[in-house]
Amino acid sequence: MIADVGARERIRTSIHRASPIVTPDDETTTSATWWHRAVIYEVYLKSFADSDNDGVGDIKGLIDRLPYIKELGADAMWISPWFVSPMLDGGYDVSDYFDVSPLFGTLADAQELIDASHRLGLRVVLDLVANHCSSEHPWFQSALTSPRGSKERELFYFRDGRGENGLEPPNDWKSIFGGPAWTQTRNADGTPGQWYFNLFDSSQPDLNWKNETVRAYFDDVLRFWFDRGVDGFRLDSVAAIGKDDDYRDMGFAPDDLYRPDKWAPVPFFDAEGVHEVLRRWRRVANVYESEKFLLGEVVVRDIDRLARYLRRDELQSTLSFDLCKVSWDADEFRHMITTLHDASLTGHSWMTWTLSSHDEMRTVSRFEDEGAASAPGDVATTGHRRARAAYLLAMALPGSACIFQGEELGLWEVTDIPDDRRQDPIYFRTAKRQIGRDGCRIPLPWENDGPSLGFSGRAETWLPQPSGWADVSVATQLDDETSTLQLFRSILALRSRIFSDDNWEFSWEPSATGVLALRRGPNFRCVINFTGEPVRIGDDDEVLVASSPLSSDREIGVNCGAWLRTR
Ligand code: GLC
Repeated sequence: MIADVGARERIRTSIHRASPIVTPDDETTTSATWWHRAVIYEVYLKSFADSDNDGVGDIKGLIDRLPYIKELGADAMWISPWFVSPMLDGGYDVSDYFDVSPLFGTLADAQELIDASHRLGLRVVLDLVANHCSSEHPWFQSALTSPRGSKERELFYFRDGRGENGLEPPNDWKSIFGGPAWTQTRNADGTPGQWYFNLFDSSQPDLNWKNETVRAYFDDVLRFWFDRGVDGFRLDSVAAIGKDDDYRDMGFAPDDLYRPDKWAPVPFFDAEGVHEVLRRWRRVANVYESEKFLLGEVVVRDIDRLARYLRRDELQSTLSFDLCKVSWDADEFRHMITTLHDASLTGHSWMTWTLSSHDEMRTVSRFEDEGAASAPGDVATTGHRRARAAYLLAMALPGSACIFQGEELGLWEVTDIPDDRRQDPIYFRTAKRQIGRDGCRIPLPWENDGPSLGFSGRAETWLPQPSGWADVSVATQLDDETSTLQLFRSILALRSRIFSDDNWEFSWEPSATGVLALRRGPNFRCVINFTGEPVRIGDDDEVLVASSPLSSDREIGVNCGAWLRTR
């Protein structure tokens, strides 16, 4: 049976014209700005391109490959943290916010990158890790040697332990990375000392954002990079900087991992204080003549709370990873897209859509049929077809969109990394119960041959590349008109031509069960087929782009989608 897009079974329509909240002290309405429909390419620096052959990507490697990002059709890059860091969490553990890690280059290289990107018309969005710093940050080092109650300790969350000699953590709170969220220190005489709070790894002590020294310091961090031409910040784990002074047990079981999107409200996440800080950052950003973009990584349990982060004097947009979690199911996609879009409109803004990131499983693998392990180089699996269709959908939505490096190549999650090569703290803190995020962070394959396929001059890279990636390298895909890379290039070129900057409306058209038909404007539709049967399109429909070629009967195949223009 061939399903028809207009079939009457299970018709749903939802039109989004939610009016943004306007509060009396609002400034003038935000006009269309560069990020409204920008495509933001996420560069995970360690794995993008290596110029000095140490097996780790760096800034100069990125500079050499900027034309690739531009030709893909991106408008901006979000670059993972390049600051000085012991790299215990890939740079999300910063020990100096005003300099660049020697692993990645120098401050001069960073400036060269910013300038070169701007010459190409690419904006630069850095990653601001403000919830915590590295335990090697000078502040934390002096806190360790300072007494209980000192102003040095006030910059963090130091507390006395419970039980005899304070040997038990202050309460039962858990880390997102596994294990307790408290780490005990040692006093100078070797006796057990106070505990400090770490929402992530113990090498990432949380900063006390109620403290004015912390706040003023980060104002300077923002200005330091804005003054160098950076166009914005992706704000890492930003909801975590709000914390209430309430140290009750939360009822965690010993093996629980804290998940911000699952747990009922806790005092150490998404507390009211965060909004005061966001408003402060926005004031810092607003001083600049060119618009500086504040994009929050906001993970909250109740999506409606996203709106609170998007009030006009707070963030311009949020990245939510909820779309990275939906299964291959039309209703799930429709529900999640509608909920996120409504939440951001309520908050007066647009969403930044993303299907993956350096923290998530690769899209191709997420949508792969259970148990259908793809043979190396097999680029036509169910997972590939679905991932291509899902990107077609994400790129049709109003708002900006983020593409994690390698998604445009259809790279899959690498699951067979040897134990002794794994790096993610999650793997170790959960005693290997959770595999962690290394599998999506594998160095990119650029060429068909050579050591590490053009990623580096040396074969041994910081995470090993799997076999079979020559077949999905950039070089291979550039030579193949039907490749995923070429599809992305067509989609992005079309997207920048057909969508305007200020149209945030869309609607779901009536469609058959398992088919999504999203409409924008009078004649654009994006139709995605989640059913097990082909879907016929109308005679009046002109195909602008399809995730896989349509059959001669004008059918959108199973696990495929198309952008259509009604003539
Ligand atoms: C964010 C980053 C992630 C990092 C964590 C702690 O979620 O995306 O990679 O591990 O924050 O900084």
